[in-house]
Amino acid sequence: MLSLNCPELDAYHLQCDELLSSFDYTHFTESFSALIHHTKEHFANEERLMKELHFQGYMEHFEEHQKILGEMSQFLAMAMQGNTLFAKNYIKNGVGDRLDLHIRNIDSQLAMFLKSKSEM
Ligand SMILES: [Fe+2]
Ligand SMILES: [Fe+2]
Repeated sequence: MLSLNCPELDAYHLQCDELLSSFDYTHFTESFSALIHHTKEHFANEERLMKELHFQGYMEHFEEHQKILGEMSQFLAMAMQGNTLFAKNYIKNGVGDRLDLHIRNIDSQLAMFLKSKSEM
């Protein structure tokens, strides 16, 4: 994932990279659940920061988090029902780009805001 030079945000993004690169396809639903669990913590951390600092773009950012989590949960549910083909494809080719795009377009705005606050 893109580094935003913002330690509060980058730490979770790095861990996400690690989870994706060490993803264990032989224990697919367990690995997928761990990724979702981590993503929930990652998003909750950003939402906490945005609330604490009264960030104006909160709603837009929050809704985008909900969309991504909803999408991930749908693919996990599919996999749990035995339909692993789409879910595996999503992990291999979808979710990394989805998160990277979110970081570039949305988290980057929060990172700029956090930096401006820390310089005040
Ligand atoms: Fe993020
Ligand atoms: Fe985010």
